[in-house]
Amino acid sequence: MDARTEKVRQLWEDRAERYDTGSRYEPPAIRSTRRLLCGGARGRTLEVAVGTGTNLEYYPPQVELTGLDLSPAMLAKAREKAREQGRPLTLVEGDAQELSFADRSFDTVLCALALCTIPDQGRALTEMYRVLVPGGRLLLVDHVEYTRFPFRLRERLRGHPRRLPRRVAEEAGFRVGHHDRLLFGMVERLVAHRPS
Ligand SMILES: C[S@@+](CC[C@H](N)C(=O)[O-])C[C@H]1O[C@@H](n2cnc3c(N)ncnc32)[C@H](O)[C@@H]1O
Repeated sequence: MDARTEKVRQLWEDRAERYDTGSRYEPPAIRSTRRLLCGGARGRTLEVAVGTGTNLEYYPPQVELTGLDLSPAMLAKAREKAREQGRPLTLVEGDAQELSFADRSFDTVLCALALCTIPDQGRALTEMYRVLVPGGRLLLVDHVEYTRFPFRLRERLRGHPRRLPRRVAEEAGFRVGHHDRLLFGMVERLVAHRPS
C-alpha cells in the first residue's frame, strides 16, 4: 500500500467510532439517493468502500452482497450492523485500487461518497470495470470538485484532487446511462454499465 493510501486508511480508522453519529444528520437527499441506488442493485453485488454499512438497509433482500473497505474499524461496524439486521454479507478488507476479486465476478458495483477519498480514482474505476461482468451495472454517488469560492480554497488543502465521477467512469470505459447533481451541484450520482 502506498503512503497516500495508508494515510487515508489511518484517517478512517480514527473516524470509525463517530462516523454513524455524523451520518444520522445527513441531508434527506443523500438518504433518498442511497435508497434509489441500492434499489438498483442486482445479483452478485460489490459495495466498494462499504464503510460502517450505512447502505445495508437499502439493498433488496435477494442481492448477494460483498462489502470491501480499507479500514478494519469501519468494517467492524458494518459487521455489527449486518448482524443486527440479519443481513448475509461477506466483508473483505482491501484497497479499491487493487481489488482482490477475479475478473467479471459481479453483476453490480456500488460506491457511495467514497471515491473522493481514494487517491487514484482512475485506478479504482478501472478495477470496478474489471470485476463487473459485461453488461454489469455501476452505481455511484460522490462529491465533485468544489470550484466556487470559498470551497475552492479548502479544495486546495486536500492531498489529492477530486474529479468529476462521471468523467473518471467514462475514462475507465463505462457507458453512463443517467447522471444528475444534487445539493447545489456539489454531489453527482450516476448509473452506468460496462458495455457488453
Ligand atoms: C465517507 S466514508 C463512506 C462510507 C460508505 N460508503 C457510506 O456511504 O457511508 C469513506 C470510506 O471509504 C473507505 N476508503 C477510502 N479509501 C479506500 C480505498 N482505497 N479502498 C477501500 N476503501 C477505501 C474508507 O475507509 C471509508 O470507510
